[in-house]
Amino acid sequence: MSDKLWGGRFSEDTDTLVEKFNASIDVDKRLYASDIEGSAAHLKMLAKQKIISENEADQLMAGLERVKAKIENNELAFSHQLEDIHMHVEDALGKECGDLAKKLHTARSRNDQVALDIRIFLKKETRQIMDLITGFQQQLVNLAHAHLDVIMPGYTHMQRAQPVLFAHHLMAYYEMFKRDKERFADAYRRMDAMPLGTAALAGTTYPLDREYTRKILGFDRLCENSMDAVSDRDFVMEFISHAGICMIHLSRLSEELILWSSSEFSFISISDAFTTGSSIMPQKKNPDVAELVRGKTGRVVGNLVAIMTTMKSLPMAYNKDMQEDKEPLFDTIDTLAICLEVYTRMFPNIQVHAGNMRAACKQGFLNATDFADYLVNRGMPFRQAHAVAGKAVAKALETGRELDDMPLAELQKFSDLVSLDIFDFISLDQMIARRVSAGGTAFANVRAAVEKAQKELRP
Ligand code: ARG
Repeated sequence: MSDKLWGGRFSEDTDTLVEKFNASIDVDKRLYASDIEGSAAHLKMLAKQKIISENEADQLMAGLERVKAKIENNELAFSHQLEDIHMHVEDALGKECGDLAKKLHTARSRNDQVALDIRIFLKKETRQIMDLITGFQQQLVNLAHAHLDVIMPGYTHMQRAQPVLFAHHLMAYYEMFKRDKERFADAYRRMDAMPLGTAALAGTTYPLDREYTRKILGFDRLCENSMDAVSDRDFVMEFISHAGICMIHLSRLSEELILWSSSEFSFISISDAFTTGSSIMPQKKNPDVAELVRGKTGRVVGNLVAIMTTMKSLPMAYNKDMQEDKEPLFDTIDTLAICLEVYTRMFPNIQVHAGNMRAACKQGFLNATDFADYLVNRGMPFRQAHAVAGKAVAKALETGRELDDMPLAELQKFSDLVSLDIFDFISLDQMIARRVSAGGTAFANVRAAVEKAQKELRP
């Protein structure tokens, strides 16, 4: 007989390469605390239902505590022979409690066990990711609050379009991360169902009280169908998908930070502690942190493709393919967490060059729309005003000037509706101040948005 925990029907030993190939311990050892938490709850339930005695449960629970301490003190040797964390814990419990340990796995399969462990683990991680997002949002809001009157060019098609407040631009990211948190909260609600007690796939013949276990473990409800319970990894796909969207938001922000800190823009500087030099070009100060965040987005999107491709076409119920769920999941958690953490630390170290941002608004006819609006205010239909402003822009371009460099008399040639107040009307501050439509970049709007966000972020 093979010496495996499942070795009863086997007469030959497992091939050593297969042993290594089959093992997931290198990855899933990270689930040890969740595994032990789930086993302890299972034992309490088995005792309550008199499937094992109270005394046996107490001994086994004390044994589990010792196993946990051993793992935490690095006293438990992990080996491929024992395959995964579930078998390691059970084997270690055997060393603590002898034959009694063999009762732990009553009315349970590794299929419902692993599904439970990932859910326990991921619930905690999801809460932590949400906290990290909140921490980063706080930095976005702080930076916006500190620069409430800084005007920068707003872009469409990467061309200067209309002036906006720098704070308004930052608050756009605040909104994106707010949606990310909502998505994680929504995913959390769905992962908050307990699979334990569904066993291999069909439920068990023992008189379990799954409700009792659910309450101990703090789940919202039970997984209703045993086959779905052991084969569902939607919550892993959802988490990685939401993480992917969050990374894409970080990546878009990274791209802007990289552009803004280039000498072409010079809108911001990132402090030395968050940039690196070049080994050949002494003058270089590279925005590596932002580039890495942008680059790591590829890993997370790749993880989503990996888990979805793994799950695609899997028949009911558990299949070993699903063991491949943990690497992309853990990598996603780690990648997203460190990106959020590093940006939370970097943001207070961003210096804003308000003068350069303002100077950049001076060129590129960012006031052409407002020139047209001026004419509309004086009764000209918008399409006609658009054409008039277009002609004025063409003339200015020809002569290498901006609209507000042209003398009044010249502007009046385009329309006799133009008078001296045109210059105030198309000045930067007035252009901002007038954009009072809900969600627009007017000073008052942006201040209110920042204040609302500060309230939302307060614990
Ligand atoms: N290591 C396995 C996994 O992560 C645990 C479940 C194994 N179940 C089984 N029937 N072989 O998926």
